[in-house]
Amino acid sequence: MENIFFDRKELKYCGKNVIIGKTVRIRYPELVEIGDNCIIDDFTYISTALKLNGYNHISSGCKLIGGKNCLIEFNSFSTLAPNVVLSAGSDDYLSGIATPLVDIRFKGKVQYGNLKIGKHCIVGSGSVILPNCDLEDGASVGALSLVNRKLPAWGLYAGIPVKFLKERDRMKINELEIEFLKNSII
Ligand SMILES: CC(C)(COP(=O)(O)OP(=O)(O)OC[C@H]1O[C@@H](n2cnc3c(N)ncnc32)[C@H](O)[C@@H]1OP(=O)(O)O)[C@@H](O)C(=O)NCCC(=O)NCCS
Repeated sequence: MENIFFDRKELKYCGKNVIIGKTVRIRYPELVEIGDNCIIDDFTYISTALKLNGYNHISSGCKLIGGKNCLIEFNSFSTLAPNVVLSAGSDDYLSGIATPLVDIRFKGKVQYGNLKIGKHCIVGSGSVILPNCDLEDGASVGALSLVNRKLPAWGLYAGIPVKFLKERDRMKINELEIEFLKNSII
């Protein structure tokens, strides 16, 4: 048995050299596109539409949530460390009833927003990214952080909420990518 929750053939697209853990739960496989050379590790839960461009790693225990009307997109070489939450939807924490068991009239102002994770982004363990808070290319986030705004390219950010810490070495990372692709077989 390949996966205990869905049949890989149900995915909208699945490229070459893709590894998906047996216990990964994808609620809407028909909305999920996985490019070549991607890994989704065990105990990850995905309840949105999702596009992985290629060379993406979703580590174990991540949650990509928001429902079937939200889309989370990853450009290539981006990674989530274990236990990251990407929240493309969030309940109203001030004036709504926060349960899926009531209809929308009782839920207040639920926030929905697609999420874009650029190329060469890394999100550290235990971090949470809120709706509409895209990561531009090369943005990375330290462990246990809260991302409540869009993060500009090639910065390292951390904290609750995130603050800018340092510039990443964009030139070096791009050189490494070129070198890697020259040598890769797939
Ligand atoms: C951010 C990180 C990469 C460290 O980067 P670094 O360049 O070595 O940064 P430093 O350790 O010099 O820290 C710089 C400042 O940011 C603070 N800081 C570092 N990580 C932080 C975090 N996760 N949250 C809040 N503040 C953090 C430091 O305390 C320091 O503050 P100061 O200048 O007031 O003393 C690292 O702390 C981290 O969070 N890594 C994620 C690791 C992870 O999740 N791994 C899982 C497997 S991939």
